[in-house]
Amino acid sequence: MSTDPRLVVISNRVAVPKARGAAGAQGGLAGALHAALKSRKGLWFGWSGQESGSGRTGHIDTQTSDGVTTATIDLSQRDIDEYYNGYANSTLWPLFHYRLDLAEYERETGKGYERVNERFADLSAPLIEPEDVVWVHDYHLIPLGERLRSRGLKNRIGFFLHIPWPATRLFVSLPYHERLVRTLLYYDVVGFQTEEWLDSFLHYCENELGAQVDKGSGAVTFEGRTTLARAYPIGIDWDHFSRLGETGDARQAQQRLLSSTRRRTAMIGVDRLDYSKGLPERIDGIGRFFERNPERVRDLVFIQIAPPSREDVESYQAIRAELEQKCGQINGARSEVDMVPIRYVNRGYSHAELFGFFRAAKIGLVTPLRDGMNLVAKEYVAAQDPEDPGVLILSRFAGAAAQLPDAVLVNPHSPDDIDHAIRTALDMPLAERKSRHEKMIATVRDDNVQQWTANFLRDLS
Ligand code: G6P
Repeated sequence: MSTDPRLVVISNRVAVPKARGAAGAQGGLAGALHAALKSRKGLWFGWSGQESGSGRTGHIDTQTSDGVTTATIDLSQRDIDEYYNGYANSTLWPLFHYRLDLAEYERETGKGYERVNERFADLSAPLIEPEDVVWVHDYHLIPLGERLRSRGLKNRIGFFLHIPWPATRLFVSLPYHERLVRTLLYYDVVGFQTEEWLDSFLHYCENELGAQVDKGSGAVTFEGRTTLARAYPIGIDWDHFSRLGETGDARQAQQRLLSSTRRRTAMIGVDRLDYSKGLPERIDGIGRFFERNPERVRDLVFIQIAPPSREDVESYQAIRAELEQKCGQINGARSEVDMVPIRYVNRGYSHAELFGFFRAAKIGLVTPLRDGMNLVAKEYVAAQDPEDPGVLILSRFAGAAAQLPDAVLVNPHSPDDIDHAIRTALDMPLAERKSRHEKMIATVRDDNVQQWTANFLRDLS
């Protein structure tokens, strides 16, 4: 029997067993955490994703499955508007993804964010035993550690940020930025996806906050407390994902794509419909490729799977409309009666189906304008046939680029660069595809989600 202390994970989203399935829709966090918790019989606390009916405020819904107990709470419509749609997704998300132009600063939503963090602390604290190790996740819950400490918790408490940490010059545009960072320094360990985001954080602590920073160890000392800040690049659940190829769902999905594309080369993108993913820019790049290589239009088909996300936030409605217009324009101009160059699909698929689609697609396009890590890039690599692997085209602004330098790296803002990368991928000889893939697969296999959890929890314990 394991003698490890129990793990308590707290995050906004919880992958409740009955609601799992649409991998494309849930983003990287939920899948990764479920894998991390499975082996530790832990407790996972968070929002149910539901609005509370009257009288349900304060009610905790628990279920146990695969050894993981989930405890979820509902939120009121006002909480959802101010905390989730508001401060988390209209202030922090755009700012942390370098989109100052989209970031909104409203006093009310800031208060809602603090109020919901208080509520998370009120409701989770009684479930936490003195020996538990507590791991809080992502930008929705930055102040939670401090709120738990103020309720007397002496446990080891860590925090992991799944998204980028912006450069200091951008970050200081956030009203009360100092207050937010001070709360982070109540955690024992604060983790980032890459050295780049970590450096930005340490730069802020040293230069804006006046904390004592030891860059070598990542120790940040402020007001008598020391927090360890380090980079822990997240990976995929290799054991689980790499076996999906044997499933009927994966085989069927692969077959379905192959038979519908016939002799054309399939190129695929799978992203939540989010402006950080660079989708309109990607379509512009594909448009440029068709413009420059009209003779190859019939050779290629691009499949973009983009499940809608955060639909109550205006900037997400705008990006959806823009993407629809761009796809429509290219398809209108370039389709034939028996051929459509872009298949644009607004729904999520299971991991097994995605595995099959990735394997059938000879090019994977992952071109976010800014991304904490991006696990789709790693899943695409993991799903390839090592004897005849496809080519990953990857944005240099995704955290994953630091780990996968053997992808074809692109500047996602440049249609010319994307056009050039597509041509490079289409013309790449088998030997080069194999040697690039071999190096990438080693990273994806070894730096997996179990390793990520072990590294973080080792430092936390
Ligand atoms: C990103 C975030 C996660 C979030 C996911 C899906 O991966 O880092 O915290 O859960 O997107 O977004 P949603 O708003 O649907 O939870």
